[in-house]
Amino acid sequence: MKLLAAVAVLLGPLALATAVPQLEHRVSYDGYRVYRIATHHNAASVKAQLKGFATVPFNLDTDEHLDVAIPPGQISAFESLGLETEVMHEDLGADIAEEGSFAAYRGVEAQAVPSLTWFDSYHSYNDHVQYFNDLQAAFPQNSEIFTIGNSYQGRSIFGIHIWGSGGKGSKPAVYFHGTVHAREWITAKVVEYITYNLLTQYDNDTTVRAVRDSYDFYILPVVNPDGFVYTQTNDRLWRKNRQPRSGSSCVGTDNNRNWPYMWNVSGGASTNPCAETYKGQAAGDTPENQALVAFSQKLRNQGNGIRLYIDWHSYGQYILLPYGYNCQARAANHARQTTLASAVAARIAQPYGTRFTYGPSCSTLYATTGSSVDYMTDVANATYAWTIELRPTGSGGGGFVLPPAQILPSAVEQWEGMKYLLATM
Ligand SMILES: *[C@@H]1O[C@H](CO)[C@@H](O)[C@H](O)[C@H]1NC(C)=O
Ligand SMILES: *[C@@H]1O[C@H](CO)[C@@H](O)[C@H](O)[C@H]1NC(C)=O
Ligand SMILES: *[C@@H]1O[C@H](CO)[C@@H](O)[C@H](O)[C@H]1NC(C)=O
Ligand SMILES: [Zn+2]
Repeated sequence: MKLLAAVAVLLGPLALATAVPQLEHRVSYDGYRVYRIATHHNAASVKAQLKGFATVPFNLDTDEHLDVAIPPGQISAFESLGLETEVMHEDLGADIAEEGSFAAYRGVEAQAVPSLTWFDSYHSYNDHVQYFNDLQAAFPQNSEIFTIGNSYQGRSIFGIHIWGSGGKGSKPAVYFHGTVHAREWITAKVVEYITYNLLTQYDNDTTVRAVRDSYDFYILPVVNPDGFVYTQTNDRLWRKNRQPRSGSSCVGTDNNRNWPYMWNVSGGASTNPCAETYKGQAAGDTPENQALVAFSQKLRNQGNGIRLYIDWHSYGQYILLPYGYNCQARAANHARQTTLASAVAARIAQPYGTRFTYGPSCSTLYATTGSSVDYMTDVANATYAWTIELRPTGSGGGGFVLPPAQILPSAVEQWEGMKYLLATM
């Protein structure tokens, strides 16, 4: 509100009058309580009991539990069902308000490194763009900003390319995607902290120097920019892109069910445009996915291939290995991947004791078709392709709305895991 008032002073009442309606369209979660409901492997019976409730789903089906937000007027009716629950957010609206007080990012003096205060709060899409430009400008000899295309609404899908002593494009690729799902805000921050350390620690840390000299890094913090902006203007819980579809009033396709590989297998995505996991009308038919596919093909074909791909998500604290489309399928190097994931989980736990579960995506969490990891493994020929689901677990509080105080710890523990993985793989 402070910013809005300042803008109004600068631009006069007309500007305020145009800004306010947008805020009035913001979905309010004030007073919503979020529960994790134990299903004891019978989600169908829990769902039947929830039929009369205006629930907002937080997770997709897992065998173990359903995470749902309940509107304030239905909380007492919900509690009288007597289900086995834990509270994830006492008042979701209050937690969103706390998370939503962004510190202003003012940029830096020419070629200075932005300070770590960046990790004290969340930020807007434009600030993320500026932050990457500033980081890159401080290390112009070993990095560049690139754009792989535009989103449905025309926002840039950008990233940073970082290299070491071998020169630009001379080594196998390490390739990261953040913010595939719009509401998973912590993911951009975590890949930014990894980026920050890869750039700033090269002269200070022999491990960082060695991994920088061994790989070319391609890091894209916000690959679903329209959805991300929408979470900040309209609905904090938005997940998909913002592409409309003919024949439906519902908007948005799940970019992580749209990859053109195993897209047509049944059971891991929805054909309903209103669903959170809507797969699209055809494989690879979102502008964001088309840009990502073209860029993945480019990395695959450029000579050194893709050594590591990670799709960063939240929440649940998982390291998920191939595959999503079939719970029996395993990558050819599955044993090696499992050994690495186990050791990475141990490194992640070192700073704060945070526990990450690891295993094949389908059998560990749920089936997903048209997902990035399956595409990267079998089509883009990545040696290792993982999904990491960041903090929190959901048990004991929180979900997509992770308090700002947990940004830096989340990033620090992932950096420990990544340093180990990059040096070992
Ligand atoms: C790197 O090390 C130098 C000398 O020890 C120190 O002055 C500098 O602050 C360090 N840089 C970072 C980013 O940690
Ligand atoms: C697979 O695609 C074909 C058309 O390309 C369609 O007729 C069929 O229903 C699809 N099957 C599934 C399981 O999505
Ligand atoms: C896949 O990548 C490996 C190197 O990681 C390479 O040896 C192999 O030839 C590639 N396969 C294909 C089909 O491109
Ligand atoms: Zn996600």
